[in-house]
Amino acid sequence: MKLSLAVAGKGGTGKTTLAALLVRSFKEKGIGPILAVDADPNSNLAEALGTEPGRPLAEIREVSSTSEGSPPGGLGRARAVDDEIQRAVAEADGFDLITMGRGEGPRCYCYVNTLLRKSLSSLSANYILVVLDNEAGMEHLSRRTTDNVDVLIGVVNPTLPSVRAAERIVALSRELPVQIGRRVVLVNRVGPAGTGEQIDRQLELLDAQRLLDIPQDDALEQLGAIAGDVFSLPNDNPALAAVRNVVLGLLGG
Ligand SMILES: Nc1ncnc2c1ncn2[C@@H]1O[C@H](COP(=O)(O)OP(=O)(O)OP(=O)(O)O)[C@@H](O)[C@H]1O
Ligand SMILES: [Mg+2]
Repeated sequence: MKLSLAVAGKGGTGKTTLAALLVRSFKEKGIGPILAVDADPNSNLAEALGTEPGRPLAEIREVSSTSEGSPPGGLGRARAVDDEIQRAVAEADGFDLITMGRGEGPRCYCYVNTLLRKSLSSLSANYILVVLDNEAGMEHLSRRTTDNVDVLIGVVNPTLPSVRAAERIVALSRELPVQIGRRVVLVNRVGPAGTGEQIDRQLELLDAQRLLDIPQDDALEQLGAIAGDVFSLPNDNPALAAVRNVVLGLLGG
């Protein structure tokens, strides 16, 4: 098995939290090696995973696209970027983490973007599972710094604006030059009363399969407030239990 997941959605819907919970759940199932990719310039996936981020890839790109940072010759340059990426991988207990960092500056990055994508895809080849936490929107996917994705997970809350954002993401994802295996939607922060009829209907219209809902959870909310990590959640946490079921679904079980 080899699986690459990209988590996307409107700002604040719970992408980072869910990406981290997915990493924890896959790790618990003994699936690995795992590569977590923080593709949000306001990176906080490292915090949610309770680890230190490595050097952001954007910095490597910055160095590689200036003349002093570029070894002569295409192959030498590609190898230099490869080596830098290897060094930027932060190794944690049961998973590795790579941080994309802040996006485009004033220079043209086309060539370095291509190198970066190639290096990232050769890096990803070493992992059984890749979990990519996107910023709100589809920047990294549309800039093609990302490789192909098996499952695009659109995270929504039980609110119409977040469902509309997911609609746009699903539509946009069809126009991207990135291969996406399937598109699914995950409703996060569902209260005891459920998502409500209107949201349910909107979600049915979405061109993406709906996975199991994740409940609104006080411990998760608290975790966000103190920038805590998902490994500190108790084993019987209900949101974690729901994510474990989502993982089973993704594994086809
Ligand atoms: N199921 C949940 N129950 C309660 N709180 C939650 C739940 N999921 C996420 N949260 C809280 O919602 C807030 C936003 O979560 P998170 O940072 O994961 O969202 P995001 O989509 O990654 O945001 P951004 O778009 O800024 O990257 C955090 O404070 C988090 O603790
Ligand atoms: Mg986030």
